Amino acid sequence: RQFLAAAVLSGLASGCGSSSGSGSDPAAFRTELRVPPLLKPKVGEDGTRTFALTMQRGRSEILPGKPVETWGFNGPHLGPTIRAARGDKVRMTVTNRLDEPSTVHWHGMRLPAKMDGGPHQTIEPGGTWTPHWTIDQPAATSWYHPHPHGQTAKHVYRGLAGMFIIDDQSVPGLPSRYGVDDFPLIFQDKNLAEDGSPTGDPLKGTFGILGDHMLVNGTYQAFVNVRTEQVRFRMLNGSNARMYHLSFADRRTFHIVGNDAGLLAAPVEVDQVSLTPGERVEVVVTFAAGEQVLLRTLAGSDDIDEGDFDLLKIVAAPRLAASPPLPARLGGPATIVVPPNATVRRFRLNGHDAINGKEMDMSRIDEVIPAGAVEIWEIENTVYAHNFHIHEVAFQVLDVDGDKPAAYASGHKDTVYVPPKSTVRLAVQFGRFTDPAMPYMYHCHILRHEDSGMMGQFVIVKPGTENQVSRTIAAHH
Ligand code: C2O
Ligand code: CU
Ligand code: CU
Repeated sequence: RQFLAAAVLSGLASGCGSSSGSGSDPAAFRTELRVPPLLKPKVGEDGTRTFALTMQRGRSEILPGKPVETWGFNGPHLGPTIRAARGDKVRMTVTNRLDEPSTVHWHGMRLPAKMDGGPHQTIEPGGTWTPHWTIDQPAATSWYHPHPHGQTAKHVYRGLAGMFIIDDQSVPGLPSRYGVDDFPLIFQDKNLAEDGSPTGDPLKGTFGILGDHMLVNGTYQAFVNVRTEQVRFRMLNGSNARMYHLSFADRRTFHIVGNDAGLLAAPVEVDQVSLTPGERVEVVVTFAAGEQVLLRTLAGSDDIDEGDFDLLKIVAAPRLAASPPLPARLGGPATIVVPPNATVRRFRLNGHDAINGKEMDMSRIDEVIPAGAVEIWEIENTVYAHNFHIHEVAFQVLDVDGDKPAAYASGHKDTVYVPPKSTVRLAVQFGRFTDPAMPYMYHCHILRHEDSGMMGQFVIVKPGTENQVSRTIAAHH
């Protein structure tokens, strides 16, 4: 590993790349950050907001002047940002204009299983899927991406992903003007061929893709202009495998205000934050007029975090609009209380293609959960880096090898890093939508692992009916 890191660094010195180690040339960051447009819904008579998404192939320039094939929603690469408020009735029309089946999963959303967009909700080429639900969860930064059985890594790597912002009561003082003082940042790494097109087999090796070109919102070597003293960044790790350790070049501190599934109770000051695939964090950063600073990721020691790379240059205007002070309380969701008799379930991760020794099988129900339960899920990792994502739920990390999680990761989450040879315990709050025949997923969000079978299925059922549930369901893929 040491040798590899050294090789990456000397590659830099010879000028072949993107990465930085001791610091890349800030002048190289000269493409303006793409900010995904907000998707405008059609508002029906009963108030239902209908959002239209089309999965399509297109051409975009990852390297300037080199158009290459990418996939996107409503455009050539990535997708628009969906924004909806608690209480909204939403409806999605998702049309598949690819040449192969896919699905669209609403990662982080609390909704009925048949609306979830997992591998059972296939959209055939030319087909349209129209899930609908009522948004009923706290403010959060969620996202959407394909989830076809065994093909998620490929579909995401080609470019299919977008943000889904959920609003709840506004928190005065928290920047919230989209594209002005509130920016989405989707981090993805790619390997690029000579002609600028993403290369590499996302199902190869232990982890699949670990790229050496860092994109933010699909933009390589991007800069963003900011005009306010305080700026909120909604950060999403949309990478296939890479873990980021994010910090600023000058090691300034900033505040974490939200985790995957909601705001924190109060801002937490840090100078670095780590994100594994699928995780989100909301941060607020303070800038001085006229300054420039690079956001970077620093190498770690867990195989999926090799190399130092600069990601984004932030350019503060010569005069900045004053921002109100950051609120002392954010009103994040209440602590998940574990009842004394809570069910404990154990999940063992070894290798990269199974959980508890079983490979994902779409016709097998692995766990049956009574609606509304709070359970302890204990995830034991006996090998190298993994993470763990559970659909539909919100959870809090109780401990990692017995230690409390970092304060900034104490909020509600749906995806968590499970370090090599360690055990993470979660307090998991399940929802109330029951369907004994349609499962939700839990899995490692390193897409190479998810696709090769490190995934399981659970159903939520009416309490007391757990034993009547058939453990086998009809499934085709
Ligand atoms: Cu973001 Cu099952 O996935
Ligand atoms: Cu999910
Ligand atoms: Cu994994």
